[in-house]
Amino acid sequence: MNKKIAVIKGDGIGPEIIEESVKVLKKIEDKFGHSFELIYVDAGGAAIDKCGKALPQETIDVCLASDSVLLGAVGGPKYDSQPAENRPERALLGIRSLLGLYANLRPAKLFDQLRDASPLREEIVDAGIDFMVVRELTGGVYFGDHVTEEKDGEAVAYDVMKYSESEVKRIAKVAFDTARLRGKKVCSVDKANVLDSSKLWRKVVVEVAKDYPDVELSHMYVDNAAMQLCKNPAQFDVILTENMFGDILSDEASMITGTIGTIPSASFGDSTRGMYEPIHGSAPDIAGMDMANPIGTILSVAMMMKYSFHMENEAKVIEEAVGKVLDQGYRTKDMESANTTVIGCKEMGDRIAELIY
Ligand code: NAD
Ligand code: IPM
Ligand code: MN
Repeated sequence: MNKKIAVIKGDGIGPEIIEESVKVLKKIEDKFGHSFELIYVDAGGAAIDKCGKALPQETIDVCLASDSVLLGAVGGPKYDSQPAENRPERALLGIRSLLGLYANLRPAKLFDQLRDASPLREEIVDAGIDFMVVRELTGGVYFGDHVTEEKDGEAVAYDVMKYSESEVKRIAKVAFDTARLRGKKVCSVDKANVLDSSKLWRKVVVEVAKDYPDVELSHMYVDNAAMQLCKNPAQFDVILTENMFGDILSDEASMITGTIGTIPSASFGDSTRGMYEPIHGSAPDIAGMDMANPIGTILSVAMMMKYSFHMENEAKVIEEAVGKVLDQGYRTKDMESANTTVIGCKEMGDRIAELIY
């Protein structure tokens, strides 16, 4: 198959982790006889450096004309003084919104090989960690009005968290469909004891659930969910939640599986074109040091194969290669535990790519 993939390296460790993922893409091309046309475009800080704009029109056009987008990570201290509308993070939100990517899947699965890297107690880990966070991605407080104004002689700022019924309905369907293919349980996480947007969220989710009698629905407040993720993560199958809660809970979910460095994500809307990115950021503290874990990005490539291209085998081969490298005891620094061998980002990418033959 021929596929066009827009590739955005981004900032910080972005270029390093993308380089390793491209090695994997090339091996998949060779092994399965596909042709992936990679079109490199800029967004975020790298784009600001080149042309002053965090999200150039060319990037939008290329993404819209591609079959999928692969993104490293954007942002970093160098760009923190940019005006809000030209921050690297806004470019990412712009792409998500312009491509209509309202659904974000973030799998939290503990690799057996990484059990010792989890900060949780052994008996909690033993119960198993394998759930999917289904995060709404183009609504909520991220996309409501952001206002800073002067009132009564002082600055006042507010951000509006807003959801429409249709926005909740479409993401709830994604969660129930996802649960049907897994453990048939959806836990909808909200703050319906305080927020109107959450009350509406809960009402719509209950409505949608009626079409899925085979899926068990429960509700949980977000503060309790944050706690339950540490106490008893085995209870979760699919966590359905709004944009900001999903952002926060997925970082927590990643850490109980050992490290944020291994968690991929898929973002999609109503078409097969998706964007695939690790859930972590540009990690400025380790950028340029060949220390980044490329597995989250490599597994994002696997998700691209599966979700956008229906290449199940290709996805499986990538996942197996990652499993094998972990079996062999190789770890990047963030996954280190007793009796493992710490290697750099490049070597990790090389080893994973080598295992695809
Ligand atoms: P971060 O996720 O970049 O880093 C948090 C911690 O995790 C750091 O200690 C970092 O070294 C570590 N880490 C992250 N990814 C890693 C990897 N692959 N391998 C090893 N260690 C890894 O979060 P932050 O420091 O809060 O944010 C840094 C910048 O990234 C900010 O500008 C932020 O806005 C941006 N950001 C971008 C994205 C994205 O592009 N999708 C996501 C989150 C944060
Ligand atoms: C993520 C990031 C982004 C988000 C930022 C960089 C806009 O944290 O992808 O998790 O909050 O969605
Ligand atoms: Mn995040």
